[in-house]
Amino acid sequence: MKVLVVGGGGREHALIKKIKESKKVDSIACCPGNGGISYDAECYDVSATDIDGVVNLAKEIKADFVVVAPDDPLVAGMVDALNEEGFKTFGPAADAAIIEGSKVFSKNLMLKYNIPTAEYRVFDKPEDVIAYLEEKNEFPAVIKADGLALGKGVIIPETLEEAVAGVKEIMEDRIFGESGNSVVVEEFLTGPEVSVLAFTDGKCVKPMVSSMDHKRALDGDKGLNTGGMGTVSPNPYYTEEVAKECMEKIFIPTINAMNKEGRTFKGCLYFGLMITPKGPKVIEYNCRFGDPETQVVLPRLKTDIMDIFEAINNETLTDLDIEWYDEACACVIMASGGYPKSYPKGIEITGLTNGQLDGVTVYHAGTAVKDGRLVTSGGRVLGVTALGNTLEEALKKSYSAVDKIKFENAHYRKDIGQRALNAEK
Ligand code: AMP
Ligand code: GLY
Repeated sequence: MKVLVVGGGGREHALIKKIKESKKVDSIACCPGNGGISYDAECYDVSATDIDGVVNLAKEIKADFVVVAPDDPLVAGMVDALNEEGFKTFGPAADAAIIEGSKVFSKNLMLKYNIPTAEYRVFDKPEDVIAYLEEKNEFPAVIKADGLALGKGVIIPETLEEAVAGVKEIMEDRIFGESGNSVVVEEFLTGPEVSVLAFTDGKCVKPMVSSMDHKRALDGDKGLNTGGMGTVSPNPYYTEEVAKECMEKIFIPTINAMNKEGRTFKGCLYFGLMITPKGPKVIEYNCRFGDPETQVVLPRLKTDIMDIFEAINNETLTDLDIEWYDEACACVIMASGGYPKSYPKGIEITGLTNGQLDGVTVYHAGTAVKDGRLVTSGGRVLGVTALGNTLEEALKKSYSAVDKIKFENAHYRKDIGQRALNAEK
């Protein structure tokens, strides 16, 4: 089989490394890919959001299977376009990807089908949001732009002034474009967060092993929100009891709800959960693998990933037993100094041979090969990942590799996994 993976970050690199292990696969292509991915797959210079370009590439290289990884092409209907041309695909159709594409859709879905989530109100006029927040006068408040916003569409203001400024940016200055046509204002929930990615073919749902993201830029969960600065798996807050409750009250009801709406979801559904004092609640759905959750979940997958993708495509996932390794996994993101704000590109990275280092797997997120040298090309640069018999051991291996990898002004958190380790004790 020839598999084409659409996307070019650390998540796609983790998918490609796993697909490479498949007995069914002889070659892997990626668009656009990146410097590190080019050691594992043939990279093509086609943007991940260019639907016509990707369909043409799939035809040109005669792809047998296409995996669409990022949110924007899924929400824009890339899978639909590929299916129309007869390609086998992994990823939801646009009518199901809306579960991530519109917060208003997903909140209304949860309300309608009684799936636990924060209480909310929807607004499409900035003055109505402000009037509501003024009257309620409860802070922190949670304000979310309706549409996709590069993971930055959520603000949690501590004061009314901050809220007013945020609403202005989203709804008047349109910093996220049309994503700010409406906003959701939510109840502020507390508790540890858990990410659960789940395979589903619309008939059954098979959760993967759990993970924990670290979204803030700085140690101690301080600083700005980022795409994710590191992950660990498993997540100790996701006990068997919590897992059972999530299955009954969240996972199965969500799959059923999407079917009832005529929007059957096939692919990887990401449940962003908060374990509140009143039980697990959904913070967000994503219509795709998480980044950097995938980097710690897939190394633990024992079953051939192409068997899973094909079973989802054929709607026979119920019959497939998915197996996992017991080891723990940790991923530490090395980012460009300045990220998530502006940062330089093109800085040489040293300490790696063919993009890798013994004892760990380095997933490349923002790298390029220029004149034979590996250089930075994005905010999140590398995901330095290790398996271990314990989480402590996995973290030790990741951090000792991080010490050996150098680029000017590299920034990484030094406390990835600490919260999980403390919870284990
Ligand atoms: P999201 O992009 O929806 O995952 O939100 C980003 C982050 O904001 C989440 O990971 C949470 O830490 C936080 N967050 C989102 N919704 C809520 C909420 N209702 N209560 C408290 N924190 C929230
Ligand atoms: N790590 C969070 C996400 O993929 O949305």
